[in-house]
Amino acid sequence: MGALLRRDLANVEAGIYPLPADHDGSLARLLNRSRLFFEDLPEVHRRRESGRHSEVLNEETRYKRPRYYLQNFHFQSGGWMTAESAERYDTQVEVLLNGTANATRRQALPELHEVFAGRDQRRLRLLDVGCGTGRFLDFVKQAWPRLPALGLDLSEPYVQEARRHLKRWSRVGLIVANGESIPVPNDSQDAVTSIFMFHELPPDVRRIIFREFARVLKPGGRLVLVDSLQRSDEPDYEGLLELFPQNFHEPYYATYLEEDFGAIAAACGLKHTRELRAFVSKVMVFDKPREGQ
Ligand SMILES: C[S@@+](CC[C@H](N)C(=O)[O-])C[C@H]1O[C@@H](n2cnc3c(N)ncnc32)[C@H](O)[C@@H]1O
Repeated sequence: MGALLRRDLANVEAGIYPLPADHDGSLARLLNRSRLFFEDLPEVHRRRESGRHSEVLNEETRYKRPRYYLQNFHFQSGGWMTAESAERYDTQVEVLLNGTANATRRQALPELHEVFAGRDQRRLRLLDVGCGTGRFLDFVKQAWPRLPALGLDLSEPYVQEARRHLKRWSRVGLIVANGESIPVPNDSQDAVTSIFMFHELPPDVRRIIFREFARVLKPGGRLVLVDSLQRSDEPDYEGLLELFPQNFHEPYYATYLEEDFGAIAAACGLKHTRELRAFVSKVMVFDKPREGQ
């Protein structure tokens, strides 16, 4: 954690991004969020004890979202489907990551800086898939206020919350859509990002979404993923990684731990450029070669 926070500060001192603002709102707002979080814990506990995790699958939702999506991820009430869950989400993730979620998200920014530096930000395009409540896009806009950015998520309430959180910025689009079929043209994005989403996808869907990333990236464009460490990234954390899906409903995490992202990328023409550790997460960087490369 110390290493992550020191790197966060070093990035600021190096001018890669400004001193970050969380934009979490007033103390009253934060306390209300904490209240919502604590209020849900008995329900979370009940689901954990009974193993029930599909309460969001009902006649109304069944045909509107893919089956894999309609689960109470993290055992939280409402899954991804309610406004209350969207309001509770960020407190929950910060608790899960001991207060490092935002610092972890920001570790994607140096990888974007590398490809954006010296270019006119107004002419670049960034797409964030599974943008959730928009926390990462907020940091993107703090670093590049004039960059046109598009956030996409399958959850209507989370996109609503992202709109509220990001309303201070111009040139941000937010849409409800499935990452499996991204409604933007081929070769149109300079960067695609996705934060904390891939461990929640079944293996076949990971591959479909990667193909979409490869399709929408411009030649020379960059994909940056931030997600959990995988098995053997950090031997001391193996036990922790095993426990996570038991305490939090994470049905695809076991296959995520073993996933070969380099191979998935290679299969759709992306080059696995590097990976960097960030506490219990890591940043994975992939590049779409330019023609002739
Ligand atoms: C753990 S949250 C991460 C949210 C956000 N990126 C963050 O930094 O906290 C996973 C997000 O992925 C979204 N998601 C899951 N499957 C998706 C899909 N097929 N297409 C688009 N969004 C999806 C969920 O709605 C949820 O908002």
